[in-house]
Amino acid sequence: MNSGAPANPSAWAGYWNAPTIWSNSALWHRQMQVLLEQIRPFVEFSATDRVLDFGCGSGFFAAQMQGRVKQIVCADLSQHSVELCRQKFAGRSDVAVVKLTGDLADLAALGPGCTKTLCLSVIQYFPSLEYLDAFIAAVGKVSVRGAQLILVDVGEAQRTWRERLLTVLFTIRHGMFWQVAAKLVQLQFSDADYKAVLGSAGHLEIPHEYFAAVQARLGVQVTEIPRQLTLNANRKSYIIEFA
Ligand SMILES: C[S@@+](CC[C@H](N)C(=O)[O-])C[C@H]1O[C@@H](n2cnc3c(N)ncnc32)[C@H](O)[C@@H]1O
Repeated sequence: MNSGAPANPSAWAGYWNAPTIWSNSALWHRQMQVLLEQIRPFVEFSATDRVLDFGCGSGFFAAQMQGRVKQIVCADLSQHSVELCRQKFAGRSDVAVVKLTGDLADLAALGPGCTKTLCLSVIQYFPSLEYLDAFIAAVGKVSVRGAQLILVDVGEAQRTWRERLLTVLFTIRHGMFWQVAAKLVQLQFSDADYKAVLGSAGHLEIPHEYFAAVQARLGVQVTEIPRQLTLNANRKSYIIEFA
């Protein structure tokens, strides 16, 4: 099942609350570097930014951006990820790490004053489109005027043949080909849990039209980033700007 609301959001919470093949991945570390290069024409990070990394995982974003922005708030539902980040960024006054509960009211404590929020490969694990609406509204409340919410890797789990080809070309262009090949082998043989959870809980399907509709509904401006930012050529990225 890859459509509709995840049948069992707590199954995903369980999966992410333990070490995964991505926790310490050199491939994802490289992917974050590539993402930050590719996004530059659309998002400019500066020394005055206060950035919320929502669903921060192992903190790949903060590892790249520490010292380059004013503050990074790493926030995640997973206790395991939060502990990893606390260890990684211990002693850094510009990186805060916050454990979330899934209740979007938690976000109120993360603000005010966020200038950018990154949400990379996270919203497909949300329980519903209503939760996504509430998430966007909650980020708006803790953000300054003109702040950007950057949603990266939005969409389907499946790939067409064309998207597979684009993925391969992307990985060659950015020097990730062999790392991806090794990861595919690892996915095949050492990540049965992911497949099992995907099979039972699925990903939240977010139709492209959702983003056109949310503009009017929440009074935000949505722009699709016209560039492939990650190796997932089957996915899209959006900037949501708070007026
Ligand atoms: C695929 S990982 C991505 C991690 C990170 N953004 C990265 O790219 O390295 C998904 C992360 O989203 C987190 N997550 C999923 N649902 C969440 C929610 N409702 N609130 C906060 N974090 C959530 C998971 O715990 C997990 O760490």
